[in-house]
Amino acid sequence: MNILLAVSGGVAALKSPSVARRLQEAGHAVKIAATDDAYHFVTELSLAIAAGDAIFDREAWFLPDGQARHIDLARWADMLLVAPATADALASAALGKADDVISATILAGVPKVVWVPAMNTKMWEHPAVKKNVATLQSYGHGFLGPVFGDLAAKNEGSGMGRMMEPTDIVAALPSLFTSKDLEGKKVLVSAGPTREYLDPVRFISNPSSGKMGYAVAAAAQARGAEVHLVSGPSSLPLPTGVNISKVESAEQMLSALDADFDDCDILVMTAAVADWKAADQKQEKQAKMGDTQNLELTRTPDILKTLSSKKKQQIVVGFAMETHKGVERAADKATRKKMDFICLNYPRKAGSAFGGDSNEVTIVMPDGEFQELPRMTKREIAEIIFDKALGLG
Ligand code: CTP
Repeated sequence: MNILLAVSGGVAALKSPSVARRLQEAGHAVKIAATDDAYHFVTELSLAIAAGDAIFDREAWFLPDGQARHIDLARWADMLLVAPATADALASAALGKADDVISATILAGVPKVVWVPAMNTKMWEHPAVKKNVATLQSYGHGFLGPVFGDLAAKNEGSGMGRMMEPTDIVAALPSLFTSKDLEGKKVLVSAGPTREYLDPVRFISNPSSGKMGYAVAAAAQARGAEVHLVSGPSSLPLPTGVNISKVESAEQMLSALDADFDDCDILVMTAAVADWKAADQKQEKQAKMGDTQNLELTRTPDILKTLSSKKKQQIVVGFAMETHKGVERAADKATRKKMDFICLNYPRKAGSAFGGDSNEVTIVMPDGEFQELPRMTKREIAEIIFDKALGLG
């Protein structure tokens, strides 16, 4: 795709060269244009180097052949991606102004416009900004983010308004072009690890990052579903447009999922649930004693099995990590836990360890039929899960 990356004047403009690079790595042709204010935050040179091309600069509104540059760019671009998009850039476009490169190129008829807002929480929540966003959405413009995270201003801390990370922008772009085939469906997703505390400061857990579940939630949201994401501890930015419950233990995860299970259409259980908890969870921190220590463990609830046992219309999808006899063991789990299918992965395969952005998954049916997928991003795996679930529903 030909993407015109437009940069407006916010602190996050520092990340625009990285957005350009990630877009190119994903196979897109990229040109860059920037508003005057953008140059307070990022230099013309770093933008030009990232684009590998001259950028649309302040003076050159007209090309030597007399062609108006914004008209020329609008003809070239399949998409105008504004990252970062400031409140001011949104306002100009919503008003239909044409006094900077972004608003002028939009009026010149670029086919698709996508905004990646970045601003202070109070600004993002201001009714004027909300109104401008609604106006632009009514013109068919897409929005990615903002997300919750650290904000630039001094003493501001965290809040909603941070620009989506460059890799997430590129991963989420296809969703803006997908059909809304999950519209009207309720999707329940679990993600991340669970924690079982031994005492107030120590716990049993695992290194799950939550990336698979967050990708599943974001894909479902982009396809029009109403999504409830139940997440164990994870440092990932929260996906937008999704209801989120943050939990720690398996019991908390079960009760958050159970609240919505009866009404849901699809449950995707990506969470790496800790199977064991301390038989005697201590209320106070335990000092170490002696050179060895015995710990008695009891089972945590099997969340998926508990929910599946009352399954009606729901399509239930699980995940399994196996080191051997993968398909056989996964099919057995799918049958025992009444799943519609299970996504099998092998932690020892190169690049398939916890925390990666991609994985190699085999989809296994309860009867042992299976489909091996090539290595792909977690977002792409999420899309295939929903294609498959819709095929069964
Ligand atoms: N799962 C769950 N509750 C648990 C453990 C697992 O809901 N206490 C879910 C996982 O989220 C996953 C599926 O069950 O979707 C398979 O997980 P796994 O731990 O591999 O299944 P087990 O039956 O516990 O397998 P094993 O005996 O190999 O530990």
